[in-house]
Amino acid sequence: METTKQHKNILITGGATGIGAAAARLFAANGWQVAVADINDEAGEALAAAIGHDCIYLHADTRCRAELDAAVEAACGRFGGLGALFANAGIHRRNTLLGVSDEEFDLVVKTNIYGTVNTLRAAVPAIAKSGGGAVVINASEQVFAGKPGNFAYGLTKGALGQLTRTAAIELAPMHVRVNAVCPSTVHTPLVDSLFERVAAAGGPSKEELWAEEDALFLRGSAGTPDEVARMVLFLADDAQSAFCNGANYLVDGGYTAS
Ligand SMILES: NC(=O)c1ccc[n+]([C@@H]2O[C@H](COP(=O)([O-])OP(=O)(O)OC[C@H]3O[C@@H](n4cnc5c(N)ncnc54)[C@H](O)[C@@H]3O)[C@@H](O)[C@H]2O)c1
Repeated sequence: METTKQHKNILITGGATGIGAAAARLFAANGWQVAVADINDEAGEALAAAIGHDCIYLHADTRCRAELDAAVEAACGRFGGLGALFANAGIHRRNTLLGVSDEEFDLVVKTNIYGTVNTLRAAVPAIAKSGGGAVVINASEQVFAGKPGNFAYGLTKGALGQLTRTAAIELAPMHVRVNAVCPSTVHTPLVDSLFERVAAAGGPSKEELWAEEDALFLRGSAGTPDEVARMVLFLADDAQSAFCNGANYLVDGGYTAS
């Protein structure tokens, strides 16, 4: 079996907050160099400064291929190659098939599907040129289960589950593995702002919504960013997960089992 010596550096999109930021801290703590790309420049700069020398922040909107190409080039320039990608940037909007506006549907598709595809198209050639490595996509437990009020989001995450399979097949000859992490609800700013929008529209308070959400899980609480980041580190590291390829890995506290 042919093995490659993977560069221990990673580009993390949407890495300024939430799961991406937890991953940035965990990879750096495990000796990886980390490039965080995001549109939240203030949070991204602060995170990179807190992590220190092994982390750089790069502004890149995943809806813009030129910004992603520049981020990949900057990361490779700084680290001398690229060994892994965490395609993590994404947004959530609560909506239904019959109720969603064209504008909102477009925004979610552009960010979650086009953004992820753009990210792979920018970063994979650099990983292949560096001798191979791994891509981890942040999908969702909605690859496996439907959820009310999640029309556009669920559709885009289902698409990422399929992208994981087809990209793994296409990129295997380049020694690039592709897997997805599929979390259920995690305590992050993404869900906080979702619940704030529901509360502002006259629904239950954010605290009531979190209590309902936490009760959905076998242990009585939703996930933490660190719990997802640990799966990402495993899947990104050829030394840990060389036989994992083209698969969607649940980190869901038993949500889809119950
Ligand atoms: N929190 C959850 O419950 C949960 C569950 C399953 C999957 N996810 C997925 O995890 C990923 C990270 O979300 P999170 O929960 O950590 O939320 P988050 O809002 O804390 O993180 C998302 C990050 O992506 C960035 N971002 C948004 N649009 C971007 C764009 N166009 N270009 C570059 N960066 C952009 C944001 O600025 C933010 O820093 C998302 O793809 C989300 O769908 C989250």
